[in-house]
Amino acid sequence: SSVGAVPQDLAGRRVVVSAGGTREPIDPVRFIGNRSSGRQGVALAQAAAARGADVTLVAANLAQDVTDQVDAARGAAGRLACSVVSVESTAELRSAVRAAGTEADVVVMAAAVADFRPAATPDAKIKKVPGHGPAPIELVENPDILAELAHERLRSDQVVVGFAAETGDASGSVLDHGRTKARRKGADLIAVNAVGSGRGFGTDSNEVTLLDGAGDVVGHASGTKREVADAVWDAVVKLLP
Ligand code: CTP
Ligand code: CA
Repeated sequence: SSVGAVPQDLAGRRVVVSAGGTREPIDPVRFIGNRSSGRQGVALAQAAAARGADVTLVAANLAQDVTDQVDAARGAAGRLACSVVSVESTAELRSAVRAAGTEADVVVMAAAVADFRPAATPDAKIKKVPGHGPAPIELVENPDILAELAHERLRSDQVVVGFAAETGDASGSVLDHGRTKARRKGADLIAVNAVGSGRGFGTDSNEVTLLDGAGDVVGHASGTKREVADAVWDAVVKLLP
């Protein structure tokens, strides 16, 4: 598709998108991680760039094919106005998002952020002591980057967007959990998607319900991750001053 066919409704806007999944070091050689490929976050970054935005992608441990896709898009002359900051841990992701976020009109937290990290990170590899079983790893809670951004507002009129990957359970449906999360986080927009049994992670399709900060449904999108990304930007554009 030609550039002319894409509405330039994010022209002159600075956006930050976090993508991928954080890794929390246990020792110099091990980490606690998750299965996020970064595909949805990269689709958001690419869609925003195509719509004219100046994009900073904060990339946490993207799958190799997703990294290749980013490199190819940036390599093609003038195709992608996107700077990439690579991070590993939640602490690094938080610093990078906040640094770029001070100048941003929109921050989208599409990364899967580890809820907990090891309390201590020894400089040397943890050794097994044969016959003594594993030593427990003490965990501490990570800061909630999205809730911080939503409650602090690094810039006035900044639009803050989050994702909520949910499975339903005995206490409520996917949407019930999404609604509770939307209210707790304080973000302007939350994209709720059902995960588990092959959905959401690692595939090229996604299905999301868009909620506002009060937990009310403001949109729905399904299709490729790029189509979902464009639906998210459509909703964001309506919130921009
Ligand atoms: N998020 C974040 N910082 C964290 C945890 C999550 O910024 N420490 C962001 C994610 O990037 C996502 C949103 O918050 O945009 C929701 O993440 P999710 O894991 O679904 O929510 P949690 O609040 O961690 O709740 P839980 O995992 O218990 O469902
Ligand atoms: Ca979580």
